[in-house]
Amino acid sequence: MMKDFARIYIMGKEYQVPRHLTILQAIEHAGFLFVRGCGCRGGFCGACATVYRMRDSYKLKVALACQTKIEDGMYLAQIPFYPGNKAEHNIASLTPTTETLCMLYPEIMRCISCGSCSKVCPQDIKVMDYINAAIRGDYKKVVELSFDCIMCGLCATRCPAEIVHYYVALAARRIYGAHIMKKAPHLDKRLQEMKEKKFDPELEKLMRSSVEDLKKLYASRDIEP
Ligand code: FES
Repeated sequence: MMKDFARIYIMGKEYQVPRHLTILQAIEHAGFLFVRGCGCRGGFCGACATVYRMRDSYKLKVALACQTKIEDGMYLAQIPFYPGNKAEHNIASLTPTTETLCMLYPEIMRCISCGSCSKVCPQDIKVMDYINAAIRGDYKKVVELSFDCIMCGLCATRCPAEIVHYYVALAARRIYGAHIMKKAPHLDKRLQEMKEKKFDPELEKLMRSSVEDLKKLYASRDIEP
């Protein structure tokens, strides 16, 4: 095999692909068209969760396909969708009590603290710790620990208690934002200005502009240092 190529296996079939590719690019190079399992390509959307192992190893590893370079001997399988349970709730009528998260997601009480969720997280998030914080009703801790979650869903695939961790964290962040976090006065001011249609003339002007004018405007905007 040429030294610039690596041998990988996609859904059990062997392919030889250029070594410099990411897993995502390698799968496309092999001829697959992504309908699911690919989104931003920048490590932000969590759509490209991938499970793999190396030839001659029993260990299952995980990665974001858009962020991980291929290696010779990778056996790859993508997890394009995981059917996790998402509790329905009306954020305005919820109160941030100790019981609220347990009421929405009673399965968190079945956590056996095995740590599989933290171990599998490609973002190195302390998932088990934020589930324990959710059980205690410590919203601030859940928010802080889950901040980098991109909802790839890998934690839920490994949980023996069938918790869908990222939805628990999402509910905690929403409740925290709606009921606990201090309101930002400048946001209220801006919302009021929008209600009063302060920016409508400017927006209408933009809508009437040509693409060339919009490009010039974009290039000459004030950029934060
Ligand atoms: S495609 Fe969005 S995180 Fe990989």
